[in-house]
Amino acid sequence: MYESSEELPASKPEAYGLLAAQLAGLLEGERDLIANAANFSALLYHTLPRLNWAGLYLHKGGELVLGPFQGKPACVRIALGRGVCGAAAESRRTVLVENVHEFPGHIACDGASNSEIVVPLLRGGRLVGVLDLDSPALARFDAEDREGLERLAEIFIDATDVEEWMNPAAESSLK
Ligand code: SME
Repeated sequence: MYESSEELPASKPEAYGLLAAQLAGLLEGERDLIANAANFSALLYHTLPRLNWAGLYLHKGGELVLGPFQGKPACVRIALGRGVCGAAAESRRTVLVENVHEFPGHIACDGASNSEIVVPLLRGGRLVGVLDLDSPALARFDAEDREGLERLAEIFIDATDVEEWMNPAAESSLK
């Protein structure tokens, strides 16, 4: 019989490895964007410690629009380039912010947030949306979180139908 301490992941990379397997299992057999985004955000929110918000913004009509999430109600539309989410979307790169109060243009949805990480969701280099995690702790996220979350974002995108976001004609009809 295992001691309880042996059942816990020994390190953050190991914890993200377990989470990756859980996510792949959770999304197996379902490719609907909203369903998978909802389960993705719920899994993250209820598994990762010290979060007050976890969810997605989807790239729609040239801006980011609030998608499935866990946490307090949030701002609905974010222009590319605005706030942490808009910065990650515009640059197509993960943005890690140790202290959101020092980030120029940070959009405060929940006053409890002190640090944040936003990972772009890309299919073939094109922007589908962003994954946004907020924490009440300062410097909650580090390079290991970035690596682990980028892998989870890849699993989510590979498991999900995002074609309507990839087709400019369909995108404009969604405006
Ligand atoms: N803080 C984000 C806005 C989204 S909320 O945190 C859910 C930003 O600056 O883009």
